[in-house]
Amino acid sequence: MIFKVTKYHQDLLKDLERLRAFFEAINEAYLKNKTKYDDNFNIAYDLGCGSGILSYYTCKVAKRVISIDKDLSIIKKAECNLKECKNVEIINTDILKYEFKDKADLIICEALDTGMIDEEQALIVNHALKYLMPNGTIIPSGIINIAEPTSTNKHLDHICYDEENNLNQENRISYKVLGSFINFNEVDFYKKIDLKFKTKLNFKINVDGILNSIKITTFTKLTEDVICGPTPMLNPPLLIPIKKKHVKKDDEVEIYLEYELGGGIETINVY
Ligand SMILES: C[S@@+](CC[C@H](N)C(=O)[O-])C[C@H]1O[C@@H](n2cnc3c(N)ncnc32)[C@H](O)[C@@H]1O
Repeated sequence: MIFKVTKYHQDLLKDLERLRAFFEAINEAYLKNKTKYDDNFNIAYDLGCGSGILSYYTCKVAKRVISIDKDLSIIKKAECNLKECKNVEIINTDILKYEFKDKADLIICEALDTGMIDEEQALIVNHALKYLMPNGTIIPSGIINIAEPTSTNKHLDHICYDEENNLNQENRISYKVLGSFINFNEVDFYKKIDLKFKTKLNFKINVDGILNSIKITTFTKLTEDVICGPTPMLNPPLLIPIKKKHVKKDDEVEIYLEYELGGGIETINVY
């Protein structure tokens, strides 16, 4: 089967590690449901369906799939990609304005980005959670965020994704990790997500150097058993510049980090 896609959605499809993690999670959820109810899922939502790749897989394990995306150009391609899947309804709308009509046994939502700061995952999950059956499954089930103190080889004048950095070999910014990582936040998608986030990071420095940035990495919990690290198209690490500081082994450094989930990377503040 050849999927029609836009350039962005093509990159998503090429990221096989990302797809494999989602397929494994859907399959695991299906097997659990099948054991419990001896049946397929009744209703599944694919929120931010893009090309429809996750709906294509889900429609084999659900009686009805409702696939929603706000991007008309990709929705037209999804309609074509899924035309043989008679149990899939495709809707072109902003999920945040969508009034769900039915409760689902399964909600799949992949509108992720590092820390869920720039994309609308947290807003969508908060809106959709009311429409999940009491024993329903949501994929992914949450995220884990870690932070590391870093030293970049060049001055970093803006927040950048490590992936964006990799594409530009000429101006590539490399970095060294100066201390232990901190698991600073876990988000559970089964509970209402607080959109304002603030924390104090107490880094323990392991090597002497110039601390000028922090690196945020997000791991996606597809299910309790499937955790996916960053892949090229799923949460590439984020490098955030901070005020330059000389540090020595065994120093402890306090940094405050705050941002708004779904508010955009311009809401990130470090001090
Ligand atoms: C990272 S892509 C994932 C696409 C597809 N699920 C996949 O796995 O290949 C996220 C998709 O969510 C859609 N999206 C983001 N926010 C949305 C919203 N508020 N309403 C509807 N679609 C949204 C985007 O248009 C994009 O196609």
